[in-house]
Amino acid sequence: MKNQTLGEFIIDTQKDFPGSTGELSKILSSIRLAAKLVSHETNKAGLAKHILGAAGSENVQGEQQQKLDVYANNQFIEALKAREVVCGIGSEENDEFISFEEDSCKNGKYVVLMDPLDGSSNIDVNVSIGTIFSVFERCSELGTLAKKEDFLQKGTKQVAAGYVIYGSSTMLVYSTGNGVNGFTFDPSIGVFFLSHPNMKFPEKASIFSINEGNLNISSSKIQEYVAYCKENNPSSSRPYTARYIGSLVADFHRNLIKGGVYLYPDTTKAPNGKLRLLYECSPLAFIAEQAGGKAISNNERILDIQPEDLHQRVPLYIGSSNMINELEAILNRGN
Ligand code: AHG
Ligand code: MN
Ligand code: MN
Repeated sequence: MKNQTLGEFIIDTQKDFPGSTGELSKILSSIRLAAKLVSHETNKAGLAKHILGAAGSENVQGEQQQKLDVYANNQFIEALKAREVVCGIGSEENDEFISFEEDSCKNGKYVVLMDPLDGSSNIDVNVSIGTIFSVFERCSELGTLAKKEDFLQKGTKQVAAGYVIYGSSTMLVYSTGNGVNGFTFDPSIGVFFLSHPNMKFPEKASIFSINEGNLNISSSKIQEYVAYCKENNPSSSRPYTARYIGSLVADFHRNLIKGGVYLYPDTTKAPNGKLRLLYECSPLAFIAEQAGGKAISNNERILDIQPEDLHQRVPLYIGSSNMINELEAILNRGN
């Protein structure tokens, strides 16, 4: 179908899940709504602060201006709660998970985990930022409050995951385990259209993304891999190209479209790396694998890691399979 909207796509793909109750569709619709609100707010983030913000931190209505990550967190929580389809939410912005107490929510089959605003250091400098989300079926009993075990599930158990990128345009990219599809937002009519059907990492990949400032405090294997990327070896298209935005969503999205890998290793400063397993690594690993790529930590597949803590961090290497394979060969090589 030409000009297919996200709404139409969600309805069309519901038939892939026989016996589905429409709850997952409602979750995706609420994420779509919150994404539109955050996209709108993101576009005027600089304006609000530097031009409208003459009255200190208050906006024109006299309300306290919220930081964009708090705003995004509230919008996603509100949108998901209003549709009464999730029993709980785990967010990078909240110390503890939220269990909705309303009976209608307690009957929700799903929990959502999210990084409502990824790349927050890029907000004030007009650089792309994002939202990452992950959906699990609860393992606790229906009709009760969501429990910790509902959130601490392996990535392989995800029923859906995705991200929104607020960039030169706003895009929503997601998967329900049946490939990856990307939708671009047309702000003039407020609609997401299917623009990137069945996304796959291209065969040819040659971008590596890492904060090289941390190289001397990273392991010798990572130093070796980066040296490998920079080696002059035209027959294997090396040196590879370095690109690092500092917003995981934006770096991942570019690498998905152009072919490349993103690395956030453990360092002496951050012994488990910086990125959170449940809000960042696991959902993007789900997307990566669905798009023919790979996502690993130092010695295991990201999706196989059993989370022990809500805010757990793990080293992340994610992207095109052939480049991750090259990295793995170095990581597995004896010293
Ligand atoms: P967040 O804004 O959600 O805290 O995430 C920031 C993350 C990620 O988006 C990015 O890739 C990484 O931090 C950058 O870290 P460094 O500045 O250490 O390179
Ligand atoms: Mn983040
Ligand atoms: Mn964040």
